[in-house]
Amino acid sequence: MATLMRFVFMAVITCSTLLACNAFFVNSPLSSPNQLETVAPATVASTVTKESEPERLPDAPYLQTPMAAVQKMLQMANVKETDVVCDLGSGDGRIAIAAAQMFGAKAIGIEIDPELIRESDRELKLAIAKTPTIRDRIKFIQQDFFKADLRDVTVVTLYLLPEANLRVRNEILSKLKAGTKVISYEYDLGDLPPSQMEKIKIGDREQTIYLWVLS
Ligand SMILES: C[S@@+](CC[C@H](N)C(=O)[O-])C[C@H]1O[C@@H](n2cnc3c(N)ncnc32)[C@H](O)[C@@H]1O
Repeated sequence: MATLMRFVFMAVITCSTLLACNAFFVNSPLSSPNQLETVAPATVASTVTKESEPERLPDAPYLQTPMAAVQKMLQMANVKETDVVCDLGSGDGRIAIAAAQMFGAKAIGIEIDPELIRESDRELKLAIAKTPTIRDRIKFIQQDFFKADLRDVTVVTLYLLPEANLRVRNEILSKLKAGTKVISYEYDLGDLPPSQMEKIKIGDREQTIYLWVLS
């Protein structure tokens, strides 16, 4: 009887030890017969993260132009159905969507951050549900706007930073047609005199909107 008990006891100990070892090795990254099986999910995840990052650092952080200022910018530029409005650094797409929805223009939003492009597309879907006619009048492009083709654009909108505006002045204005309007929220284009300037009260602050008509 004592021998039988000892045998059962030893059998239980051996089984538990085997189960514990199995659990350890199955969960260990070193255990896989083919290490790729363990590494692959992490590699895929980091690739996905990389693909959702901008191709380079943006020239300005993401901040939204308040809707009251968006409307005023587009009014100052006298946007019409015949215009092609391009927002350089389009964030959640609000300026492009307003240009098409409120002023009937064609609109392009160029944004370097893929997550914001996805957000713009979501906003666009909601806008199309309300105003189906804008469906073919807006597009969002994930791109560095310094590399964009702006040939057909007649109105450019900006809400960037002073240094980025200067780079736009030096690298982009010469590519635009005469008569193109450039409109900027908050920041000027260095010493380039604006054609028009207006103030707008946003909360308890007064902001400036600048308009240039290119010659
Ligand atoms: C201050 S936010 C303005 C967003 C939107 N235009 C608005 O007025 O609500 C500036 C945006 O420009 C984008 N941006 C900055 N540099 C860029 C570049 N070189 N090409 C494309 N987008 C850029 C940023 O990711 C950010 O969303």
